[in-house]
This record gives sequence, structure tokens and C-alpha cells, in this order.
Amino acid sequence: YSISIEFESCRGLSFTTSFFILFLYKKPFVESFEETPLLVAVLTYMGYGILTIFGYLRDFLRQWNIEKCHVAREREEQKDFVPLYQDFENFYTRNLYMRIRDNWNRPICSVPGAKMDLVQRVSYNYNWTFEHTGKVVKDVINMGSYNYLGFAENTGACADAAIEVTQQYGVGVGSTRCEMGNLGIHEELEQLVARFLGVESSMAFGMGFATNSMNIPALTGKGCLILSDELNHASLVLGARLSGSTIRVFKHNNMQSLEKLLRDAIVHGQPRTHRPWKKILIVVEGIYSMEGSIVRLPEIIALKKRYKAYLYLDEAHSIGALGPNGRGVVDYFGLDPKDVDIMMGTFTKSFGAAGGYIGGRKELIDYLRRHSHSALYATSMSPPVAQQIITSMKIIMGEDGATLGADRLRQLSENTTYFRRKLHDMGFIIYGNDDSPVVPMMLYMPAKIGAFGREMMKRNIGTVVVGFPATPIIESRARFCISAAHTSEMLDTVGHTFRAVLLNGATQALQPLLFLIQDVKRDTSDLCSVCLQCFSRSRDVAIEQMLILILS
Ligand SMILES: Cc1ncc(COP(=O)(O)O)c(C=O)c1O
Repeated sequence: YSISIEFESCRGLSFTTSFFILFLYKKPFVESFEETPLLVAVLTYMGYGILTIFGYLRDFLRQWNIEKCHVAREREEQKDFVPLYQDFENFYTRNLYMRIRDNWNRPICSVPGAKMDLVQRVSYNYNWTFEHTGKVVKDVINMGSYNYLGFAENTGACADAAIEVTQQYGVGVGSTRCEMGNLGIHEELEQLVARFLGVESSMAFGMGFATNSMNIPALTGKGCLILSDELNHASLVLGARLSGSTIRVFKHNNMQSLEKLLRDAIVHGQPRTHRPWKKILIVVEGIYSMEGSIVRLPEIIALKKRYKAYLYLDEAHSIGALGPNGRGVVDYFGLDPKDVDIMMGTFTKSFGAAGGYIGGRKELIDYLRRHSHSALYATSMSPPVAQQIITSMKIIMGEDGATLGADRLRQLSENTTYFRRKLHDMGFIIYGNDDSPVVPMMLYMPAKIGAFGREMMKRNIGTVVVGFPATPIIESRARFCISAAHTSEMLDTVGHTFRAVLLNGATQALQPLLFLIQDVKRDTSDLCSVCLQCFSRSRDVAIEQMLILILS
């Protein structure tokens, strides 16, 4: 199976190239992205179509003040101006997102561990505003936080060390690194990160998003070319745009698409002048947080070497979560970190902290210290945050003298395999790499996004549901983030709950069909053999079987 997947990625390539690609991987690289079934795609478009028609109808009613309008509108005295707030995304937010908005922005009131507490809220105006009831929903199984290694804790070694550092330095630094905000703890953190990554030097920043959006412009500019994966995170896209470089987008994790762009870039150079590009920078992520896919790093490194391009790797979701030593995709594929020119990552996920880093050659880091806006103009990282990272990283590296880090890495990997296999065996369509702790489960239809999130919540399971614009319009999904802190009982509970939620949803949606089944039951002569088998048992079992057949 893995070989067939491998060959899938080699389609259209010569035998020698395909063989060469297979040789690059030391172990099977299995990823699945089942195409949206045609019927589901048609039904999904119909769903959006109906919502859009109703959206226009309601906008019409709002315009004539028949329906109360809660959204930002042009002021009366500016009614002749070009509208400030109207665009498609606004229409989408007003008429589609608002219907299911209760699934997002849920306030939590505990550590985002394997279980969490949520503030209960209600809306009396169809999700335009919410009120807190004063109650707390306790012990919700948390399937949404990026707490891969379970370091989001308020007790234990990390919390104790952070408290101690707070007592020593306080929380705020009050200055930038190049003014009065350079503490010993920052230097210690950077040396540790460099050691962890296996690179010469590193620099830490107070915010992961800004690490991308402010450092890419420091590295490339006019006359440079950025080749960016189509599913790159918003911070990478913003950084690329701010840099003023030319941006070309290649298909997600598709090496033929990337190679074509590289080849074109070398052959044709810059538009009009045909001068060579000053720099070519390939920008990719380690694990893609909406697809659960892992970057095809060995192939990208081979391509970047062949075409003499630079590589910027964002390991926000993979650092700590992948590889035998938790050192990200480079570790996972057993590659040399020196082959990646710019190693970027965040401390917000596996380390349970905040901020981001850039690692690489000493020259690169020295250059960024002088040229990056987030190095020069942003206040440096809060000391307890830096300490949380230092302690958790040392635990992962085994420098605490115990095996806690290795145990958590192993637990995360086991939980990932267990949960993915469970969903697969239950017949759900899941995306991504078998080893990825990000597990997207396809829902497709817009109505299902809201229904699924709410029904799971009713059963005390907090999930993240995602739809357009974060995903393509017909690929809405639930996205689960597996943690080493999850127990197998928790993962089992989640699996059982899916079945209950989906059967419940299907029973409601298929009420008319159930009546039909009951009618047909009297005359079984024109039923297929599968249905006849079902009808030979009790009515309830028959209905359940039928639903399972339909669902699968
Ligand atoms: C790939 C990627 N890069 C960067 C970021 C931004 O990081 P932060 O949330 O730590 O600011 C994220 C956030 O989720 C991300 O997924």
C-alpha cells in the first residue's frame, strides 16, 4: 500500500527519477487524501447554494429594516461613499458563519490539558452576541488544543520553574533585546534551541506569527522569488507579501509542481528583464495543520540543492511532535539539519508556551538580529515563558535525568496511531499522514459543521470544526489534535461519541426515509438482499444497519 502511495507521487516521472525518489525515504511515507465523492460534493454545493439564497433574502430584509441588522453598516451621512464593509467574506460571515458561530471563540477557564473547563454561554439573538450563564462546563475532553506533548500544565516541573523565574525577574521585560531587554534567560534559551535543533545558532521571538511575518521580509525583497506551498499558514503568506518579493504558489506538497516552478524560474529569470532572480526561497511547513500532511522534505532538499534555492521550513506543528527525538521533520526523516537554510518553529504547541524561533547558521542569525523588525522593535519574551520552554525542551532532550520526555514522545506516537486507526476502522474519511498528530476528519457539508461541533459539545467533547475560508469550500472538516496527555479511555470515548452523534444526526436527517423503510417493510418483495438481511432482525436493528450502510 505504501509503495502504491509512493508511486502515486511519482506519477508522470521517469523510472529513474521515481526510483531515486523512493530511495530518498528510509521508511514508508503513507498519506491519504480521499477525493470528495461526487454525490457529497453535489450535496455540499447545494447546501452552500441554499444558504447563499437565504443570505441574499435576509440581506434584502435587513436593507428594508424588516430583519434587525447587527453588522457594521455605513453611517447614514456616508451612504453615498463606496461601502467600507461589504465584500464576499462579509456576506459569508453575516449569513453563513453567524449560524454556527457558537462553535468558535468558546471561552475556557482552565489549563488546556487533556480535559478542560469551559465557560457556559448562551445567545438570545442567533449567535450575534453571547451571554455567560455563570456556569462552568467541567471536564470537557479537549481534542482541539495544540498540546502535543501535554506540557500545557499548571503543576509539575515546568510550572514550578516558571513560578520561580517569575519571582526572580517578574513577568514583563519592558524593552527590546537590543535595548534593556536582554536577560540571561533569553541567551540560555537560544543556546538550548540551537542545540536541540542541531544548528549553529538560533534566535527566539515573543510571537510565532511575527517570527514568520517579520523575518521573511528581512531575508527576501524585490527581485527575489518566493515559492510557497498553497496551504502555507497565514503568517508565512503575510511575510512573503510584506517582503515585496514575487510569490509563486505550488500545489500542496507536490514536487512536480515545485520543480516546474524552479525550472521556469531558472530558465526565464525575472519577468520582462529576464535577469536571474536575486534569491529563490522555498517556503514550506513541517506538518500542515489543516491537512495533517507531512512535508516531503527529502525531495524538497534534493530539489533545492539541484536548483540552488534556499529553504525556509516552518515547524510550528512538527517540532516536539515528530521524530524519534521530537526534533521535528528533519529528525523524522533522519536528515541533516544543515540542509535546511532557515529552521523556523513556534513554542506555542509542543512546549506549552508562547513565541517562535529561527535556527540556522551563525551568519544568518547575526544578520537577523540586525535586520529583523521583530528583533529590533518588539519587546523581548516574558521570562516565565522562556523558562517554560527551557524546562520542557530539556525534558524532551532527557536533560532532566529522567525518561519523561521520551515517554511523552512515545505516548504521542501511540495515541496518534491508535486514534487514526480507530477512525479509519469506523469508516470515517480522514486526511493526512499516518504519523501526524493532527487528524482532520471530513464533514464536507456546511450544516454538518455546526451540528457536529454542538452535538460533540453536548457530550462533553471539545472539538475544532473548520470550514471555508480555512479549507476549500467543499472540504469542511473536524480537526483533532492528539496529545500525549490523552488516555486511551478518552480516545475511546471520543470514538464512541462520533458514532452516537452521527447516528443521531442521520436519524434526524433521514426521518422521512425511516418512514419509508417502515412502509416498505410490509412489502419486502422489491428489496435488495442487504436490506432483506436487515429486515430479518428487529426493526431497530434494521434501521441502524440501514443508517450505517447509508453513512458508509
Ligand atoms: C504553521 C504555523 N506557523 C506559524 C504559526 C503562528 O504561531 P503562533 O500561534 O505561535 O503565533 C502557526 C499557528 O498556529 C502555524 O500553524
